[in-house]
Amino acid sequence: MTPRIAPSVLSADFTRLEKEIRTVEEGGADLLHLDVMDAHFVPNLTFGPMVIAAIDRITELHLSTHLMMTDPEPLLEDFVKAGSDAVIVHIESYPDPTRVLARIRELGALAGLTLNPDTPVEAVEPYLSGVDVFLVMSVNPGWGGQGFMPAVLPKLTRAVGLRKEHGYGYSLHIDGGIDRVTAPDAVSAGAEVLVAGSAIFKSDDPRAMVGELRRVGEAALGI
Ligand code: DX5
Ligand code: ZN
Repeated sequence: MTPRIAPSVLSADFTRLEKEIRTVEEGGADLLHLDVMDAHFVPNLTFGPMVIAAIDRITELHLSTHLMMTDPEPLLEDFVKAGSDAVIVHIESYPDPTRVLARIRELGALAGLTLNPDTPVEAVEPYLSGVDVFLVMSVNPGWGGQGFMPAVLPKLTRAVGLRKEHGYGYSLHIDGGIDRVTAPDAVSAGAEVLVAGSAIFKSDDPRAMVGELRRVGEAALGI
């Protein structure tokens, strides 16, 4: 299956966010990845439901909201009401995320689970039946523009195997350091959605880069 491309607006120019989103739409972006940071789970601080609601007003793209927050539960409803189609929480925020994942589904969004590069995949395994989006972090969360960590690739392979073995229904995303060099390895290991921030928005031609990432991913799959 053709890899789907999810530009992360974290690396976009927020003084012209609508234009930036139009550009990646024209380039064929499949969804948008929205990085919420709370200055506690990670040192950095980004945006919340208000900005997501503004983005939702100007695009039809699926919004995938990645919550790098210590305790997002009280705000889940706000994130969904703001237009998030998927809400992704960290296993490091909730060592047992059962209730939170169920709540996200109950609110009408896809439930996502992710893990930091240092967290073993075993930590999330018991919860994968309640997961619609499984996101593998390939950098330590907190900033865009960091180098891809190839050591996480076996997590993708494992996630593919577990899905097959148990009949799970999640899609597999990879997030961090994805560019035209690293995308092929991620896709070969099983990633179906490539999240990319700086590779797209800091490139000379963000529109073309969306297609380029898809092309190198397809080439890795022999498509
Ligand atoms: C990192 C974020 C990523 C980030 C990726 O904490 O979760 O989504 O935007 O940015 P790049 O693609 O620049 O590594
Ligand atoms: Zn992210």
